[in-house]
Order: sequence, then structure tokens, then C-alpha cells
Amino acid sequence: MGQAIRLAVFPVAGFGSRFLPATKASPKEMLPIVDKPLIQYAVEEVVAAGITDLVFITGRHKRAIADHFDKSPEMETDLEQRGKTALLDTIRSILPRDCTCIYIRQSEQLGLGHAVLCARPVVRNEPFMVVLADDFIDSQAPVARQMVQQYEQHNCSILGVQEVAREQTGAYGIVRAQPFAERLERIEAIVEKPKPEQAPSNLAVIGRYVLTPRIFHHIEHVKPGAGGEIQLTDAISALLAEEQVLAYRFEGKRYDCGSKLGYLQATVDLGRRHSEVGAQFAAWLKEKHHD
Ligand code: G1P
Repeated sequence: MGQAIRLAVFPVAGFGSRFLPATKASPKEMLPIVDKPLIQYAVEEVVAAGITDLVFITGRHKRAIADHFDKSPEMETDLEQRGKTALLDTIRSILPRDCTCIYIRQSEQLGLGHAVLCARPVVRNEPFMVVLADDFIDSQAPVARQMVQQYEQHNCSILGVQEVAREQTGAYGIVRAQPFAERLERIEAIVEKPKPEQAPSNLAVIGRYVLTPRIFHHIEHVKPGAGGEIQLTDAISALLAEEQVLAYRFEGKRYDCGSKLGYLQATVDLGRRHSEVGAQFAAWLKEKHHD
């Protein structure tokens, strides 16, 4: 068995311009699905996979993320005095005690590959996960855990993938792959945001990666790619010449919460099942349906 995965990297420096004006002064990763911010779902997912060290690659206007995962003594005292124990538990249990948050500023937005490279001084020589919080995945078994389990068996880089409509390939990293095992394919090629007519398939990378530390060497050496950015996809393409990389068809429903439509769909689906308002919301939706 390989080295255990202890670290997750969350690139959260992006502007979130698709959600303006909501994201003018607060991070898109703090947008809630009902009552929990996207970044908290992402953190809970990796914590469920046994990961303890959380590395946030942040930028300007992202202080709310660090505050969210910090203690809030005034709020805790207030809730305690008012006897609001359930809420007190809710805010105290945002982060398990054995987790550490590390914040690294990415002062220039040079691309996803560059954001991941910013984590190198912390990650050093260990395998690690990269999680994009706006790819929100609802599943029975947390996807990070599914992927760590695959890593434990196969000991190589693994990318979370899903089929997308042909006309959408231009929004994703797209792989060409050969069958390998159940839910797994061996990647032969990967390309960032190809036009549908140039895409090698419709199997798209979704924001979950387990990577070996060798990726840093390749990120350092890739030239700016799609959109003039340092692309993680291009570094993975270079890694393929040296190491096996697998594509994993994860179990779960993915919502593109980087888009308004995906965000609304996630809100409705999770709202329907919410412990407090779910039943009422579902009934209201049903009534609306007959309007
Ligand atoms: C990034 C990656 C892309 C991947 C996608 C998943 O693109 O560059 O390869 O398929 O995330 O959501 P972005 O959505 O940041 O443009």
C-alpha cells in the first residue's frame, strides 16, 4: 500500500464572476446550498476520507473562508447564554479538532495548475487531493473517500470523471482512456477544453483529483495553455509519459455550482431533503407544479 493521503488542496482564489454581484465582496465558495457553504461541503467530504490537513489557496476578498473555519468566541458565548445548544453544536462541529487549516495566498490568477503549485511548500513529497468546491457532488459515499480507496489499491494519480454532452467538452478537461477495472479507465491522453469536434471523447474531468507529488515538477514546466493559463490538465498530460493515471467514474450526482443553473438545481434537490424545511418545501414545490 502507498503513502496515506493526509492533505487536500482547495483552490479558492477565483473571482466567481459568474455570480456577480453576489461575489463582489464575498467568496463564491461561501455561497450556501440551503444553509451550508459550498466550501464546507467540500471540507466535510475530504474529512470523511480521513484527510486532516486542509490547504486553501486563497486570494483577495477570501477572508470569510478563513473566518468560517476558525473559532468564533463571541458567537459561541452568545448562543451558550441563550441556551441554543443545537446551533452551538452546529458551529462548533464545522471542523474536527484534529484538522489543520493552512492558507496560502495566490497573488496572481495564473490558472488552476499555478494554484496547485502554490501548495507545494506544504504538500512536498506526498500524494494529495485537489477538490474544486464548485463541483458539488451529492452521494452516499463521499467521493473523496471513494477516490482515496481507489488510490490505496492502485497507488497512482486518479481523476474523477463523468460523461458530459458532446457540445459541452469545451468547458472541461477531456480524457481518452481504455478500460482498466470496474469504474476505472487508464488514461492515454488528456486535453483541456477541446471543441466538440476535436474532443477525444466525452469523458470529462470533474473537480476531484488524487495526484502524486511528481505533478509539481510538470506544473513548473508547462507553458500557458487554454485561456493563457497554467493548466493542471497540461501537467497531467506530461505526467502520463512517466506514470499511470486512472480515470474514476465516481458514484454520485454532480451539480455544476459554478453555474447559476447547477446551483439552483442543487438548492432545490437538497432543499427538498433538508431536515428542517424539506417536507414543507417539497409540498410547496408540488403545489407550484400544478400552478
Ligand atoms: C477546471 C479544469 C478542467 C475541469 C473542470 C472541472 O476548469 O481546468 O479540466 O474539467 O475544472 O470542473 P474550470 O471549471 O475551472 O474552467
